[in-house]
Amino acid sequence: MIATTEPIVGSITDFAAEVRAGLNQPGQKTLPSKYLYDALGSALFDAITLLPEYGLTRAEERILRRHAAEIVSHVPRPALVSELGSGNGRKTRWILSQLCVREPLSYYPIEISRAALASCESELSDIDAVSIVGVEREYLDGLREVDSLRSEGSHLLLLFLGSTIGNFDRGADARFLTEVRRFLRPGDSLLLGADLMKPLDRMIVAYDDPLGVTAAFNLNLLARINRELDANFNLRQFEHVARFNHGTNSIEMHIRSKQRQTVNIKRMDWSVRLEEGETIWTEGCHKHTHESIAELAEASGFKQKAQWQDEEWPFAETLLLAS
Ligand SMILES: C[S@@+](CC[C@H](N)C(=O)[O-])C[C@H]1O[C@@H](n2cnc3c(N)ncnc32)[C@H](O)[C@@H]1O
Repeated sequence: MIATTEPIVGSITDFAAEVRAGLNQPGQKTLPSKYLYDALGSALFDAITLLPEYGLTRAEERILRRHAAEIVSHVPRPALVSELGSGNGRKTRWILSQLCVREPLSYYPIEISRAALASCESELSDIDAVSIVGVEREYLDGLREVDSLRSEGSHLLLLFLGSTIGNFDRGADARFLTEVRRFLRPGDSLLLGADLMKPLDRMIVAYDDPLGVTAAFNLNLLARINRELDANFNLRQFEHVARFNHGTNSIEMHIRSKQRQTVNIKRMDWSVRLEEGETIWTEGCHKHTHESIAELAEASGFKQKAQWQDEEWPFAETLLLAS
């Protein structure tokens, strides 16, 4: 069975306000990474996960395929599963098919991208014993809704895969997981996927592939502003940049202006000036160590129960208990 809750994800006014706040900032201009995921952005992200340079998704899939039975053995019954930013949900199949052997269950993918949610629902629809209820919301709003729908005594397994936690700045990640923790009850758990530090050249090329798919994914954010806010960004006058910030252990994705230019955003009746070489920071992808995962878990009120790692592409899947 597939159902979807009534969508109430951010309006065009929220989008305009956040674009303006980010581009109007003194110093480094920014745009929120959540806006990378419109229908085209979600399709480009799926293409990224197939790139030979982007080993992250395949690493996590290997971990889940090999260890799903052991992972679910830690989850008390009756259980329900929810997922923050499910994307197409392909990797989640391993967990759901193990858990539903015990009894039928409900799965609540929480997504800001309607297109990603639709592909998740169709990707997993063949697992008969799983009822899928898509939640088109931002993470915490979605979790609040899932919490309101769950029955007394059920145990929640919350998935946060794909190293999406790395998109939060240091400090903001612990604050976010602390908020997540507030919705969890004793017996609930969080399965957290985190990409680990690896040699610099491997990390950089994963976000700057020679085919240019990641560049298209990044530049699509400007194209989205053109489409939805009637702006006139000339995409040929911008380029994708991926660089490593050694201070924060993060890959940073930026969009660099190739020349001095002024862009009009008609729907906001506003224009923004960019200097030659100036960048707009669109996404951070923090890389972890075992120690930083343990610190993050502790800072946000979780207890580490177990951890699995892929050796081919250093990546850690950690099961955290709501302590
Ligand atoms: C890096 S992708 C990971 C997708 C998938 N979990 C995976 O492992 O391949 C992040 C996903 O989170 C969703 N997302 C980003 N920001 C969000 C937010 N604030 N609330 C809900 N979903 C969000 C995006 O639409 C995207 O599908």
